[in-house]
Amino acid sequence: MKNIVIAIDGTSASGKSTNSKIIARELGFVYVDTGAMYRTLAWYCLKNKVDVHDPKAVATLCRKWKTTLECVENHVRLAVAGYVPEKEIRTAEVSAAVPHIAAVPKVRDWMKAKQRECIRFGSLVMEGRDIGTNVFPETDFKFYLDANLDERSKRREAEGVVENLAARDQRDSQRASAPLMVALGAMVINNSGMTAEQTSGIILAEVKKRL
Ligand code: DC
Repeated sequence: MKNIVIAIDGTSASGKSTNSKIIARELGFVYVDTGAMYRTLAWYCLKNKVDVHDPKAVATLCRKWKTTLECVENHVRLAVAGYVPEKEIRTAEVSAAVPHIAAVPKVRDWMKAKQRECIRFGSLVMEGRDIGTNVFPETDFKFYLDANLDERSKRREAEGVVENLAARDQRDSQRASAPLMVALGAMVINNSGMTAEQTSGIILAEVKKRL
């Protein structure tokens, strides 16, 4: 069977990561968190004192940084000079910086190429904001997750993170380059009040039906 891609897009804290991991495990697919890749670049900019509000400086750093894609236990990770930042990319500072670097067209081109490369690791469950619209628009498996803002904020609070999700969603939806939007043909799931088992169950049933 040819490798396939399940694209899971949606708003912040809409359950993309939890559900994507369940689906990947269930199907034996490789999980790719593209948000982590953008976060890694934002972290790297902050570490190197590159102004995230300066698109040219961000694009220059992105052109030069030394990265490798690795697949460990069916999870893809982006290493920078051999190091994979994990806790460091989940800070409030990185969350605030990431929409700025994610709006830079050259950064998006770089990310798209890297993300498409992941297919060499096998069939993928790839989560992000533009997977169905921009990274793998040719896939037949597109899903868009959302939940009401109150519930999403509570989910983040439960993880110990307080952030302005509405502001981040607005920036992600309004940027000119590959904004967050529902891909043509995507199944939209509003999972307010639903468990991850219920949400992933809907997606798995749909995928199995179409396979
Ligand atoms: O999913 P996340 O919160 O870790 O994503 C972090 C940021 O990265 C998010 O604000 C938007 C950006 N992003 C993006 O623009 N495109 C993607 N495919 C994934 C994430």
